Formats: sequence, C-alpha cells, structure tokens
Amino acid sequence: MQSSDTSWIAGKNCMITGANSGIGKATSSALAKLGAHAIMVCRDSARGEEARSEVIQTAGVTKDGVSLMIADLASFASVRKLASDFLQTSQPLHVLVNNAGVILGNRSVTVDGFETTFQVNYLSHFLLTNLLLDELRASAPSRIVNVTSSAHAGGHMDFSDLQEEKGYSGFKSYSQSKLAQVLFTRELAKRLEGTDVTVNCVHPGAVATNWGRHSAGLLSVGVRLGSIFMLSPEKGADTSVYLASSPEVSGVTGMYFYKRKVAQPSKESLDDDAARRLWDMSVQLTSIPQATAVR
Ligand SMILES: NC(=O)c1ccc[n+]([C@@H]2O[C@H](COP(=O)([O-])OP(=O)(O)OC[C@H]3O[C@@H](n4cnc5c(N)ncnc54)[C@H](OP(=O)(O)O)[C@@H]3O)[C@@H](O)[C@H]2O)c1
Repeated sequence: MQSSDTSWIAGKNCMITGANSGIGKATSSALAKLGAHAIMVCRDSARGEEARSEVIQTAGVTKDGVSLMIADLASFASVRKLASDFLQTSQPLHVLVNNAGVILGNRSVTVDGFETTFQVNYLSHFLLTNLLLDELRASAPSRIVNVTSSAHAGGHMDFSDLQEEKGYSGFKSYSQSKLAQVLFTRELAKRLEGTDVTVNCVHPGAVATNWGRHSAGLLSVGVRLGSIFMLSPEKGADTSVYLASSPEVSGVTGMYFYKRKVAQPSKESLDDDAARRLWDMSVQLTSIPQATAVR
C-alpha cells in the first residue's frame, strides 16, 4: 500500500523483467493499478499472455495499460532485440525494473557461453540497462530499480572465475550475481550523476514465489516447505513499487533498500574499485560499444 502521492507515475511507461511470475507479476500489477503503462517482459509468449491477462484483471485496467514483450535473458541477441523493439516504438521509458532472476542447482552455460545465473541475473540486465539508457535519460525524471537480495552479503566477486568454472554451487553463483547487482547500482548511480535518472536496488524479503523451486535438491524442498512463512508476492513487490513510484525517493540514488528504507549493504558491495572493475569487465563481456556505455 503506497502512503504517498504516486500520481506522477500515471501514464508513465514502466518495463519489468521476469514479469510473468512472483514479484515481477505483482510489481506489474501494482504499477498498472497506479495508472502506469506496465510493459511486462517475459521469456515465453503463452505464459506471458496468461500473466498479462491476469495483471489486467487484478489491476482492474484496460488492455492498453499492460503490454507484453518477449525476451530470454539467457541470450544477448534476445536482449538486444528487446531493446531495439522497444526503441522502435519511439515511446519514452520512465522506469526499468530489472527483476528477473534464477538460482540453479546445477551449473549451465548460456548460448553466449556464460554461466546462466550470472548472465540472467546480472549481465543481461547490465546490457539491457545500457541499451535503454539514452531513452531513460531522454525521458527523465526516470528510475531504474534492480532487484537484488540480502544473499548478496554472502557473495564474493571472484574476478578470476566469474563464470564459476573452477567450482560451482547454486548459492555461491546466486550470491555473486546479486552482489554484482549492488555494485552495478552504485557504479551506475555515479555515472548518472546530474541526469535525473536514479538507480537503486532492493531486497524484497523472503517471498513465496517460484524462486528456487526449479533448483535441485534441498533448496527446492526448503522453499516449498518454508513458503507458508514467507511474504506474499504483493508484499514482496512493495519496495520495488515504492522505488518506482513514490515521490519520497525522488532524487535518491545508488542505495540499497529493504522494507522501503535505505539499508546497509555488505562491505564488499561498497568497494568502489570492485564496482569499477566489474563495470569495465561487463562492458567487454557484453560488447557494448564504448560510445554507448556511460563513462
Ligand atoms: N522470492 C524470494 O524470496 C526472493 C528473495 C530475494 C530476492 N529475490 C529476487 O526477486 C526476483 C524475482 O524473483 P521471484 O521471487 O519473483 O521468483 P520467480 O517467481 O521464480 O520469478 C522469476 C522471474 O524471472 C524470470 N526468468 C528466469 N529466467 C529467465 C530468463 N532466462 N529470461 C527471462 N526471464 C527469466 C522467470 O521467468 P519463467 O517463469 O519463464 O521462469 C520469472 O518470471 C529475482 O531476481 C530474485 O532473485 C527473490
């Protein structure tokens, strides 16, 4: 429930990744309810259309208030197509919620040759954000919200083995990807100083969604058993929606939020050298032209 005037969000375009399920679907619904145009990014057309119909119904809005775009974040070509399809519509972009995320029991590699968790949770969002950044700047005031996790605090950036080739565990990879999102948030905020584009990240809490259910072993069993103690997706989406829409956070940038409050992220996430190093490596890994990446 929003406590402050969120009227500025009405009519604004908000893109949400991972929008067919859990926190992303609830975020789409809440933003549409506030009068925003929710652009749901999903990887599967049929499930995307089903979720879009559900969001239209839950938010009580017309079909025009919610649209669907398809992209698989495990493919840079698909992310590039998403950005280019959006830019071709010549619509402004006011909010980008980088929400999609996975935790995987077994190591897998994407078509681009990267460890899947690292690419889906972090690298593809880095690419998408950079590809849409000119539009976000042109549409300012605008906001970027990165959905990270308190698990980032257990993460470590292993720059010599970002793809976890030397030893994989689902949680280690997930934590590193979420730490990468916090570092990305802080570095991007610096690079966007003076632009009226803000970027913050959020830990949604422990939320009963599909998260972890497709992973192997104990995690999958644990999240299923523990789900009765967890937040609903709507409550889990609350801080994302707050960061996207509330005037209370207008101009606030580079912060880590939990329950609508600025919280303290891990010590490693405050390492400016690591943030810059990750940025430079990400530019190379995603082959963003130097001219496109903000300096
Ligand atoms: N739930 C929690 O307790 C919790 C806690 C901390 C942080 N988070 C974070 O919150 C975010 C949302 O997760 P959730 O809890 O709502 O889980 P969820 O229900 O599993 O939703 C994850 C979303 O990401 C999408 N996704 C996964 N792989 C993708 C890919 N390759 N390309 C495009 N989309 C992809 C999923 O699409 P499909 O349905 O097609 O797989 C789904 O829409 C994640 O970043 C997660 O790490 C969750």
